[in-house]
Amino acid sequence: MYNRNEIKEQLRKAMEFYSELGFEYLPVRNISTAGGHPPHGKETAGGHAGKDRGEELGSLRAATGECRRCRLSEGRRNIVFGEGSPEAGLMFIGEGPGRDEDIQGRPFVGDAGKLLTKLIAKMGMKREEVYIANIIKCRPPLNRNPREDEIAACLPFVEKQIEIINPRVIVCLGKVSAHALLGTDIPISRLRGNFLQYRGIPVMPTFHPAYLLRNPKDKWLTWDDMQKVLEKMKGG
Ligand code: URA
Repeated sequence: MYNRNEIKEQLRKAMEFYSELGFEYLPVRNISTAGGHPPHGKETAGGHAGKDRGEELGSLRAATGECRRCRLSEGRRNIVFGEGSPEAGLMFIGEGPGRDEDIQGRPFVGDAGKLLTKLIAKMGMKREEVYIANIIKCRPPLNRNPREDEIAACLPFVEKQIEIINPRVIVCLGKVSAHALLGTDIPISRLRGNFLQYRGIPVMPTFHPAYLLRNPKDKWLTWDDMQKVLEKMKGG
């Protein structure tokens, strides 16, 4: 139970966040206490009891608007917000959109995306059952690495997506994702294969699918990492 001051502080933080995202009101709706478990059997997050995750993601997308918070907005065609099940137990977080994603407005739809989709299928899931997002939502020119200020401008969005979805496990695809989310600069080759934590959620860093396309001999390492993810999702 929160005391009065804690509630005030939580509300202040929520209002600050939404106003930063351009909201002029707090997107709350009637909180239902009706039972039922989400389809993937995941417990409802404490902060989101009774709220509809899909609606919350919709509000967040709406708040993103035609974002101009960093220079990447100048060259992008589409904001690539993320897609998948709002009830997902597993969330994949990549780096940022490439050319195909920028054109289609969807994450991981190019060659690296096709490999990711195959990996998800090999894990026994459908792409629509997981949630796929990126650290940055707009394509950098010529696919260069995102800069620190661009990551800082975009990070609150993926953080909010994680908070809403509250997955059981997060997979960080590649070093940009792992470094941004986990606040480390340890090379991905050393980070991968071991669980770390993001706000209490287990995070498995692994190689980016684009790296695996260039280095197929390392695919088995990512497959190994995904075995651990599947174990963790079963409660292991
Ligand atoms: N690479 C990424 O990191 N994200 C995408 O959406 C596509 C390619």
